[in-house]
Amino acid sequence: MLHDPNRVYVFDTTLRDGEQVPGCQLTTPEKIEIARELERLGVDIIEAGFPVSSPGDFQSVVEISKAVSEPTVCALTRANKGDIDAAIEALKYAKRPRIHTGIGSSDQHIKHKFNSTREEILERAVEAVKYAKKSVEDIEFYAEDAGRADIVFLAQMVEAVIGAGATVVNIPDTNGYCLPDQYGSKIKFLKENVSNIDKAIISVHCHNDLGLATANSVAGLQNGARQIEGTINGIGERAGNTSIEEVVMILKTHQALGLYTNINSKNFYEMSRMISTQMRMPVQPNKAIVGSNAFAHSSGIHQDGFLKNRENYEIIRPEDVGFPSASIVLTARSGRHALKFHLERLGHTLDKDELYEVYQRFLTLADNKLDINDNDLQELVAYKLVKN
Ligand code: KIV
Ligand code: ZN
Repeated sequence: MLHDPNRVYVFDTTLRDGEQVPGCQLTTPEKIEIARELERLGVDIIEAGFPVSSPGDFQSVVEISKAVSEPTVCALTRANKGDIDAAIEALKYAKRPRIHTGIGSSDQHIKHKFNSTREEILERAVEAVKYAKKSVEDIEFYAEDAGRADIVFLAQMVEAVIGAGATVVNIPDTNGYCLPDQYGSKIKFLKENVSNIDKAIISVHCHNDLGLATANSVAGLQNGARQIEGTINGIGERAGNTSIEEVVMILKTHQALGLYTNINSKNFYEMSRMISTQMRMPVQPNKAIVGSNAFAHSSGIHQDGFLKNRENYEIIRPEDVGFPSASIVLTARSGRHALKFHLERLGHTLDKDELYEVYQRFLTLADNKLDINDNDLQELVAYKLVKN
């Protein structure tokens, strides 16, 4: 299949890596509802679950396969026949099924998780891909802990699994270990040294243990990866996964990268709130793109600049991510310009002296009250009118 070299595929794992988070478990009907929203958002692949892990997860993969028609539906397995058989069975209603199989690639995992050798692991990886390929055409292989793997062995593994039929090769930074230039270099090395790399798409799957998941994913894309794996709100194991909304908006904001996705970014805010509610996981107010403060301007200097020209302090328009609107928050750090803006919004046009007077009383109030609302403003103005 021919791919547009500038198109980045978005692989959502909110329902698998995200759902592994303690307290975030979902019922099958909840997962179906989320999968339908992910389809509306425009994700290319939905990782629906890990079928062998429980009867409930198996059933969720079956039902999601029936519920969506556009995205590829993907099921996770380890590199063994039992897991792969369960995934094949669970995906039988999927219009576009994908099996995501894999095994550890770092010496740490090979020795201390599998008690094995590189040679044996390579054999198991190839066998798993060949076995899955007999039933499903689209096979993604993950080289777990690739972030810490020896690059020459990783390249050997990637070449072998592509030879066995893998259509996508996932290079996970499972432990969120890499620096962006290290991770980017890994992808570059694979692009340049794996002889059959043009037969597969390279996927980036980064964890956020050092807060670098988004930066690493973008570094991977800059070096030739064309699929990004992540979750809504960045939820996932430990410190989480790459946040899809961040990567998508980075590509939109930095058009010079020449990369694009098919995501309807206007659905992000609603999607984020839905995931937060259903998974009982609050979104931190300062979260990029979807946090409640992401478009709130509160210091006097910023408010003044924003009111003169919003692009002074706004690199993304809130409406582009479905955010209700930018806000000018009134605090004791706000200036007269911001107060005037809000008073005019409420229908009060004051002259310079009146505004000065109301502003002095506003500052006294704001030093003692965290949240200045419209009622407070009405009272401040009413006081002025009564007094005059
Ligand atoms: O982080 C990881 O390595 C994973 C794999 C199962 C893809 O989630
Ligand atoms: Zn993961």
